[in-house]
Amino acid sequence: MDLRFTDEQEMMRKMVRDFAQKEVAPRIESMENEEFPTEIIKRMGELGLMGVPVSEEQGGAGMDYTSYIIAINELSKVSATLGVILSVHTSVGTFPILKFGTKEQVDHYVPKLASGEYLGAFCLTEPGAGSDAGSLKTKAKKEGDHYIINGSKVFITNGEYADTFIVFANTNPEQGNKGITAFIVEKGTPGLEIGKSEKKMGLHGSSTVSLNFDSMKVSESQRLGEEGEGFKIALANLNIGRIGIAAQALGIAEAALDAATGYAKEREQFGKPIAKNQGVSFKLADMATAVEGAKLLVYNAASKYQAGLDTSKEASMAKKYASTTAVNAAIEAVQVFGGYGYTEDYPVERYFRDAKITQIYEGTNEIQNVVISRQLLK
Ligand code: CAA
Repeated sequence: MDLRFTDEQEMMRKMVRDFAQKEVAPRIESMENEEFPTEIIKRMGELGLMGVPVSEEQGGAGMDYTSYIIAINELSKVSATLGVILSVHTSVGTFPILKFGTKEQVDHYVPKLASGEYLGAFCLTEPGAGSDAGSLKTKAKKEGDHYIINGSKVFITNGEYADTFIVFANTNPEQGNKGITAFIVEKGTPGLEIGKSEKKMGLHGSSTVSLNFDSMKVSESQRLGEEGEGFKIALANLNIGRIGIAAQALGIAEAALDAATGYAKEREQFGKPIAKNQGVSFKLADMATAVEGAKLLVYNAASKYQAGLDTSKEASMAKKYASTTAVNAAIEAVQVFGGYGYTEDYPVERYFRDAKITQIYEGTNEIQNVVISRQLLK
């Protein structure tokens, strides 16, 4: 297996790195103050970042999945908030339409999403259906040429600012998860109510809201795929979604390692840089080894996805390992910084807060273990 990147992929990395350092880094503080980065997202659209793996004819950048994962990885080194906005928008906000939509749906929505004119959201989780997503209670009842949808969703990333929502509702509750159907719902649809905005430990610039559907009327033409296909649409797109979150976690881990290494070389105690102590240098060695392992898993999963192979196991492995690497690297980075690491003067406390959610969303790491072990044992 050759894990070297192509010239095109390296160009993507350099472009995103420059953009993140010049245009995103100065906005970290405003995002930490819970300002949604609308202007940056607009710029990302201009740079082709909101539809990296979408073809040029469909309004995207026409690049491969690895380039897309590189974009999330690089962006997340500077801002994990933008990493999740981009990953959710693309993997689970755009791809369900691209892969399962009718020609009319693809032609209408994908160019708008891929160019960044529209922002996408994915609405699966409910108050009583998190890990057990198949037990969702939102109902869609067919009436003539439309559906009436009632129910509620929680933890919807991008929710307050999204233009399109991929909504999962059950059209045939007796069939359990085989009754779940997907719909494309537009912002402003009567009956779509944006609810409470969550106050989160980290990712302060990202929007996380609950949604309520109060007799929301959705035309049959907005149904995505056939009735009953919804759960498969959700899980299939969570595969690339999980690789995206793994790349976000990898970016946080790399940023933590870089910060800790730089600080350990500069900070002097007992008359020498603290990096000269094995207690510190071995921490860096452990962090670097885990980061390298996470990188291999993330890009292995991305290249298999690119090749059209079943990547549910690889995506889960990448997310599980990269997210735990991010949490551990952030904890150790704070430790290397000592008292300063606990202050907002240095970014490591932000990495610490941002890292934790990567072990939870798009399937907890316990659920990733379910996916991995089922594949092993089938
Ligand atoms: N890819 C493709 N198909 C898959 C799949 C995958 N990763 N996992 C399962 N499927 C298929 C199964 O093969 C099965 O198909 P058949 O009926 O033909 O056999 C079907 O989907 C149903 O699967 P299960 O019978 O295994 O369903 P289950 O109810 O036992 O649940 C689960 C399986 C893996 C636990 C699943 O419920 C799950 O992944 N839960 C976690 C939910 C999740 O990740 N939520 C994330 C919310 S989105 C989010 O967080 C976004 C954000 O804002 C950041």
